[in-house]
Amino acid sequence: MKSVADTSISPAARSSRRGLEERYFQRMAAAVEEKTQLTDWVRGGRILDIGAGGGELAARIAELPDVKDVIALDDSDDAVAHLNEIDGITVRSGTADQLAELGLHDLDGIVMSSVLHEIASYNPRGPENGREAALANLAVIGGALAPGGVLIIRDFVTPADADRTLTLISPGEAGDALIGAYLEQVPVPELAALTASGPHSFTGSARAVSEALLTVNWGLESLPREAQEQYCQFELDELVQEVLGLGLGLSVVHREAWVQPGYRQHLSGWTVLEADGTPWFPDTKAIWVFEKAAANAPGSD
Ligand SMILES: C[S@@+](CC[C@H](N)C(=O)[O-])C[C@H]1O[C@@H](n2cnc3c(N)ncnc32)[C@H](O)[C@@H]1O
Repeated sequence: MKSVADTSISPAARSSRRGLEERYFQRMAAAVEEKTQLTDWVRGGRILDIGAGGGELAARIAELPDVKDVIALDDSDDAVAHLNEIDGITVRSGTADQLAELGLHDLDGIVMSSVLHEIASYNPRGPENGREAALANLAVIGGALAPGGVLIIRDFVTPADADRTLTLISPGEAGDALIGAYLEQVPVPELAALTASGPHSFTGSARAVSEALLTVNWGLESLPREAQEQYCQFELDELVQEVLGLGLGLSVVHREAWVQPGYRQHLSGWTVLEADGTPWFPDTKAIWVFEKAAANAPGSD
């Protein structure tokens, strides 16, 4: 294990998301089987995959029987290069808030797999404005749906009662160093508020503990990128309320949060305790499915 000082990075290196290393694409590709579960909610027609990354999911969507066209959008040149290798999809380069400029509208389905938290984390106004940026993007995205279209969001989820205090116990000195390196690099003060509280113990809000645990999960090598991403942006029901509040004629069809297989085992050396000593583990993923009112639905224009 390197020391904490060995892992510190310059502010210039911190600001760069655009170079996506092969490890990033390999990790996304490895999760494609689980991500493909979200295709249960795709109804067919013209589908936009926002933040399509390496394109494995877009390729799966393109194979669905009622799907006519899959448009894979990404704002990273590295991702677009990967997407251009995939047959049977249409590739577009651009950001999620540029749908109108890109002529992307009247879509039957929009898929956002592990991209909402990136939109929030890397927004131009800084990570502290991440939630506002995510909602501003969702307003554009929801507006690009055709009547009857579905919006499927798969992402991390903030734990319920996120301000309560939890204790994170690391596996030992190596785990302590990982947390130390994370705390040096995480750019949001609220998330850096984890206090050493005993041997290998760190105390903070459920939000800060979840974010730290889910970030160190990727290991030291991935920290320079992953510490810049704030995974937990919205609680499960909170995102529903926020999206319904956008006034786009969207209703919620489904929402669900769960612990992905393998997470507990991979993080088995780590323990999280409630204030009364009860063990706790965060949900690692959630899905939200919204539907736009059909043109002839009551109350629609
Ligand atoms: C974690 S990857 C997910 C890739 C793929 N959707 C998956 O689930 O395997 C996030 C992708 O979103 C892209 N991305 C991030 N912010 C974006 C934005 N504002 N507009 C378009 N793409 C974005 C990144 O370049 C990256 O390829």
